[in-house]
Amino acid sequence: MADTRAVVDARLRTAFDTIEEGVDPVLRPSDRADFQANGALGLAKRLGRNPRELAEEVIARAELADICSVVEVSGPGFINLTLADGFLSAQVAVMAGDERLGIEAAPDPSKIVIDYSAPNVAKEMHVGHLRGTVIGDALTRTLAFAGHEVIRENHVGDWGTPFGMLIEHLVDLGEETAVAELSVGDLDAFYRDARTAYDASPTLQERSRNRVVLLQGGDEDTLRLWRVLVAESVAYFNEVYGKLGVLLEDSDVVGESSYNPMLDAVVEDLGERGLLVENDGALCVFPPGFTNREGEPLPLIVRKSDGGYGYAATDLAAVRDRVGRLGARRILYVVGAPQAQHFEMVFAVARMAGWLPDDVEAVHVSFANVLGPDHKMLKTRSGSTIKLVELLDEAVERAETAMAERQVDLDPSERAHVARLLGIGAVKYADLSTDRTRDYVFDWERMLAFDGNTAPYLQYAHARIRSIFRRSEIDHVDPATVPVVTDPFERALTVALLGFAPALGAMLETYSPSKLCAYLYDLATTFTSFYENTPVLRAPDEATRNSRLLLAELTARVLALGLSLLGIGVPDRM
Ligand code: ARG
Repeated sequence: MADTRAVVDARLRTAFDTIEEGVDPVLRPSDRADFQANGALGLAKRLGRNPRELAEEVIARAELADICSVVEVSGPGFINLTLADGFLSAQVAVMAGDERLGIEAAPDPSKIVIDYSAPNVAKEMHVGHLRGTVIGDALTRTLAFAGHEVIRENHVGDWGTPFGMLIEHLVDLGEETAVAELSVGDLDAFYRDARTAYDASPTLQERSRNRVVLLQGGDEDTLRLWRVLVAESVAYFNEVYGKLGVLLEDSDVVGESSYNPMLDAVVEDLGERGLLVENDGALCVFPPGFTNREGEPLPLIVRKSDGGYGYAATDLAAVRDRVGRLGARRILYVVGAPQAQHFEMVFAVARMAGWLPDDVEAVHVSFANVLGPDHKMLKTRSGSTIKLVELLDEAVERAETAMAERQVDLDPSERAHVARLLGIGAVKYADLSTDRTRDYVFDWERMLAFDGNTAPYLQYAHARIRSIFRRSEIDHVDPATVPVVTDPFERALTVALLGFAPALGAMLETYSPSKLCAYLYDLATTFTSFYENTPVLRAPDEATRNSRLLLAELTARVLALGLSLLGIGVPDRM
């Protein structure tokens, strides 16, 4: 158990229980001590007692002698707790001896489906897809590390009326030319040209309509052409995923089209439950509590008046499949904020239909926008959307330049590898370190800076520690070393190290990678002041030196593990 907060919390709970059962001690980190507990205030009010006296009583009843050096009442009835140095050193020794660095596997592992990235076939992956892909990847890695069974599903947009137009455009271009264009990743040009031709030609519009009918009817030749479009697009998405270094692969693609065979059953189920209402020829469900601006009930359209199924029907089928067939206990949708109402309605209807039982959670893990320097949506100078591949290539180039400026001395192949880790890491970290519900400005200078809350800063802090070990010619610290925690810098670093498990817990509770980022940044700055103020290799004696080396090594391990859970690699030297 490396979570000191949890230990103190449990001891206080036991003490509160002897006065009244089930009281939350309301424990928080504090500036004055290590923690402050505010629970006595609320309880005193309820019992009509003096809060300071009650706090004293809790202290008297709590067994804290082995873990705290100072426990005192402050202010109106807070309890301030300072952890004992001996307890800290014992805890950090346990953490150092644990491959998982004190992160216990979840006692209640759960099957979690995570729906993320989800670009659309024959459309470019632009910067808007960065957040969903990167946040989804970080959550996938972290939930898996926490012991859950994570199923990745890439809900690629591969179906719908535009495919009539796209297939006809493919036919007009000739398959070979079309494939050549798509395989170099010029998806936007393909889509744009298709659209222009379509808009200009009523015959093409007619052909496209017929083509959609053929596609929906399962015409073999049409399906074959459709598969060409899908395969070329997915190959291109994979190239982007490869550059980004995310876990998504071919087998994770469960596109909208894969739910086609289940859509009739969705309508049948809803009908049997009496939930379907016909509205202007369309089949709809009206989940309670959803209204438009005029206060009229808002429908979720399950089947359009032309008999076709849309985005909502597919998402209903997906919920039904994920819970019914896959046995998901939790479904996470990492999708942009504008789709909030869509998901609320889909979840509501799925609950009404019984596909989403009360004990299965569905969460829209929403995210905001990436903005340009003008605080508008990020665009190129000429005003077009920025391709994600180009952005990633530029990141690596800029990292190379930054390394040259800093005169990083590495051989060419290692240099290229490090530039990739730095550049891609910088882009990902800038995204992950911003609260996902907030917009952020895409700023090359800031994200590639070697100071501040950036990937290069954390990667550098890690590499610097590794270099201490290279210089000392010690590979690893003797695992039996028990750190001595005496001076204030050692103490601060120890407390910071022990914050790892709670930080990871906070990230998973709210699906906010930014919490882990903030923690890692705090750890790195705490290490920096430790290293500047406390001699490590020149420590006064061997025991102190080993102890400090242990703290340093543990810092490097936490940084490496923490960053890897965010999908960011750490070079050993840079
Ligand atoms: N392809 C969709 C879009 O680009 C995102 C899909 C998100 N996932 C889902 N299950 N609806 O907007």
